[in-house]
Parts: sequence; structure tokens; C-alpha cells
Amino acid sequence: MRVLGIETSCDESAAAVVEDGYKLLSSAISSSMDLHAAYGGVVPEIAARSHLEVVLPVIDEALKIAKVGWQDIDAISVTRGPGLGGSLLIGLTTARTLAIVKNKPLYGVNHVTAHVYANFLTKTSLPGYKLPKNQPKFPLLALIISGGHSQLVLFAHHFKYTVLGQTVDDAVGEAFDKVAKLLGLPYPGGPSISKAAINGNPETIKLPKARLDNRYDFSFSGLKTAVLRATQELCGKTYDFPSTQLSSLLTNQQKADIAASFQRVAIETLIRGVKQAVEEYSPASIVIAGGVAANQELRRQLVKVLPQQIEYTDIKLCTDNAAMVASLGYFMAKKNRPQADPYTLEIDPGLRM
Ligand code: KG4
Ligand code: ZN
Repeated sequence: MRVLGIETSCDESAAAVVEDGYKLLSSAISSSMDLHAAYGGVVPEIAARSHLEVVLPVIDEALKIAKVGWQDIDAISVTRGPGLGGSLLIGLTTARTLAIVKNKPLYGVNHVTAHVYANFLTKTSLPGYKLPKNQPKFPLLALIISGGHSQLVLFAHHFKYTVLGQTVDDAVGEAFDKVAKLLGLPYPGGPSISKAAINGNPETIKLPKARLDNRYDFSFSGLKTAVLRATQELCGKTYDFPSTQLSSLLTNQQKADIAASFQRVAIETLIRGVKQAVEEYSPASIVIAGGVAANQELRRQLVKVLPQQIEYTDIKLCTDNAAMVASLGYFMAKKNRPQADPYTLEIDPGLRM
């Protein structure tokens, strides 16, 4: 069964074709990231306009790379939330229209759940992908970490899961983005911080780790503020000095040290949750998913502390893509989840797992 996935929840317009949930035939992505870089974050109106311009060409590209025509597509899977309203609307309306015109079953999926399904892609003949050898097994522990979400979820099976914990304030990716902005490093912050951190000493700056009532919850807001205070102190400035001017007072070495110290504590916070959940629930597999799962230092540290083997997927499939949406769509079809009505399916920007 071949599923066409469509993803437009944030600044990536993406389409992909996946066979039987595991075989990646194509993954086309057009990002409007460059247009947002000047603003230090995604501008919803710019993102939506860009989706409108590129979503159809991106779908054509996905079909072309997969070497398939519409007759070879068995279903369409589309992200219906969470995400930016205007952006979701473009992808969803496109998917609904195509489902009607091409007479295909339609599945509306949760973007956060879809991130986990990137780990179910195990085969491809496309060049430049490094995929896991095996599909994850249940019970499956998933650490979902992106620009909008930080969650630890235990899947008993497909579509049967418990959210063990989540962030009580900022998502971890958001913290990476904000600390990068403070240090004057380019957007998106995650890759900038990890690059700067390579030359830094992670022990230079003492930063706190939050302790919460639910041991599986996360908090990154306090860490972000602690980085701001430490930076002010390093620059000899008080809290009323404009944070936007701090980066110009820092040397590259100081920036690297701050980035490395922040990254260390953020990673330790994530790993602490995973380790506790592994001890309590003994999952058969562990996966990491979402943009922050691209972080190489996190990958290295996790391998060191986990008692069992962990496989990572390609970085291109950690950040937003439509292959994960197509894979989840396949499992929805296979597990007889309800099809969406292409005449009434609506976006849900605040959709939760
Ligand atoms: O999953 P994603 O592409 O979009 C959302 O659903 O949010 O995640 C984007 C987030 C951004 O905050 C970005 O800074 C972060 O993932 N990110 C990283 C890395 N690459 C992307 N964070 C840490 N290290 C990275 N290498
Ligand atoms: Zn995402």
C-alpha cells in the first residue's frame, strides 16, 4: 500500500510517498526558513503564503522522485494539527481536494505522533539516507522533542499510548532557539548551538536543573532564564541591560562556553527522564523523535546511559517532513482507524496527543 503524506504545520511544505509504512520512496521538502531568519523565528503569514505557492509543486516532486502516478497511490495522509492555523489550512485543503478529485481515502494525523513514525521507516533506495535496521517494537518509549513539544510517551501499541510527562513551560527546541538568539547565533537555534558548543567547555557555567512533582515532566524556562542571568554577569551587566545587546559584548569563546553549558544541562534533563522511564517500564524499544533528536551530543550521551541498544533515524527525518506523516497514515489504514471525510475534515491547531 502506497501512501502520499502531506505536511504543512510550520515552515516546511513537504510531501512524501511511503510504501507499507516502512519503505521510503520519496521525501520532498521546501522550507521557507530563509525568509524567517531575518526575524529570528517563524512569521505565520509568510509561512502560509509560502505553502500556498509551493505545496502543489512539492507534491508533484514527491510523486516524480517515487516514480509513481496517481493510480499508484492508495491513500492520502495529512497533518491536521498541532501547528500554525494558516499553514495547516493550506496542506489540509490541498489534501481534501486531492482526495475528492482523485478518489482516494483520506487520513488526518497528529503531527507530534507522526514524528515518532519517522522511526518506522527502515528501507529506501534513495541516496543519502541512514535508516534504522529494524522497526521499533512495543512497548515503545518515545522521547518527542521539537520546537513546539517535549514529551515522553509510552506506546503499548499503535494508537494505544500514555503520555508519561511533558514540558510544563517551554519546549526544549524553543529553549535552544531562544538561547541562540541571546548569543547572536543564527536561526534555527538548535544546529547553531550544537555547532558553537563543539568549541566550548560545558562545565564553565553552572546552570540549574528543574525538579518537578511528576518526575517525567520537563521544564526549560528556568534554564533559559539562568543562561540569561549568567550571560549578564559574564558581561558585567545588570538585569535591566537589554538582552539583545549582550551578544555583541561576548567573545566567540564565551559564546561557545555558554552554548556548551546550556546544551549539557538540556541534554541531561532529557536523558534523566528517559532513564527513569526505562527503569520503570522496561520498554522493548526506545526512539527519539522531532527536530531536537537531530542533536548529535544527545545521541552520543543517550547511547552511553541506556542499558539496551538504540537506533537513530536520519537527521532529515527528525526535523519536519512528510514521510513520517505517510508512515503514520499507513498504520491508520492498516489498523482500521476511521477515515476522514474529505468534505468536512478540519484543522486543529491545538490538537493534543
Ligand atoms: O520537529 P521540528 O522540525 O519542528 C517542530 O515540530 O517544532 O523541530 C524544530 C526544532 C527547532 O527548535 C530547532 O532549533 C531544533 O528542532 N533543532 C535542534 C537541532 N536541529 C534542529 N535542536 C538541537 N540540536 C539540533 N541539532
Ligand atoms: Zn515537528
